[in-house]
Amino acid sequence: KRPAGAPDKALARKVTKVGVVGAGLMASQLALLFARRLEVPVVLTDLDQERLDKGVGYAHAEIDKLLGKGRISADKANGLKALITGSLTKDAFADADFVIEAVFEEMSVKQKVFAEVEEHVSPEAILATNTSSLSVSEMASGLKHPERVVGFHFFNPVAVLPLLEIVRGEKTDDAALATAFAVGRQLKKSCVLVKDAPAFVVNRILLRLMAEIIQTVDEGTPIEVAERAAAPLGLPMPPFVLMGLVGPAIALHVNETLHGAFPDRFPLSEKFAKFVAEGKRGVYLPDFTLDPEAVEIFGGG
Ligand code: 3HC
Repeated sequence: KRPAGAPDKALARKVTKVGVVGAGLMASQLALLFARRLEVPVVLTDLDQERLDKGVGYAHAEIDKLLGKGRISADKANGLKALITGSLTKDAFADADFVIEAVFEEMSVKQKVFAEVEEHVSPEAILATNTSSLSVSEMASGLKHPERVVGFHFFNPVAVLPLLEIVRGEKTDDAALATAFAVGRQLKKSCVLVKDAPAFVVNRILLRLMAEIIQTVDEGTPIEVAERAAAPLGLPMPPFVLMGLVGPAIALHVNETLHGAFPDRFPLSEKFAKFVAEGKRGVYLPDFTLDPEAVEIFGGG
């Protein structure tokens, strides 16, 4: 069944190579998902070799885990690893027909990235953004071909969570949107078309909850009490653990976008902003120390 508002499938273009801008945790999870489900070459780019090696290394390690669990054969694992490569230059995107960015959550950075990508790809290649909260229309605004830009918003952990928010920008055309839905289906995600509004739908709801929980902790409620009180809501993991999984810096960026749009509903916590400014990762705790166990689990530190 065609998702509500999705254009005719027949308009979708075939995707034979994927580019991923960035090689961080989200980007490398995306590289793995695209390689596994589309079975096409996926090339990651980033600013330095160390980041690239880390991103490709993460994807390869996850492939080894799938092999270890008996989900894929050794041949399949080797094939998948060969599909995922890294490049320091965007020349590698020349023949890519779908490029997704998962770089720093800042409008000017993302606009610059898309302008650079546009220099290398064909005018029909789709440019997708995994932004958590920024306007897709604004991101596309300075491009020669804004009609090929779509929002393609995944949730952590990408391999496990089924939802994909697809965002139509003001100028996105039917072919780009149809391709986005076709790719989403190939990725085996449950696609929903959402409005290009601040933080779309999921983060709008989630951040409202997180903002309230952070505020109660800032006001002096012990974190254990806040976590216990949230338990009846039936969340799959405790809110502060989820924050560690998503990354406090990303949570803060989304909160800032929402604060800009709806200041009363999304207050900013100065203490939380300080925690992020100090470059801390892992779980946000009221005394601003790190939970060593969480750091270990989520690779922070
Ligand atoms: N990466 C890859 N796979 C993972 C993983 C990870 N980080 N964490 C768990 N998994 C896999 C496990 O390997 C396991 O797979 P298997 O069945 O093939 O062995 C499967 O997920 C289930 O894991 P577990 O049995 O260990 O644990 P749970 O059943 O408790 O599920 C969870 C773990 C899926 C992470 C669950 O706790 C959950 O859904 N948490 C909430 C996540 C969430 O809300 N994410 C949205 C955040 S918002 C966001 O990302 C948007 C951004 O814009 C901010």
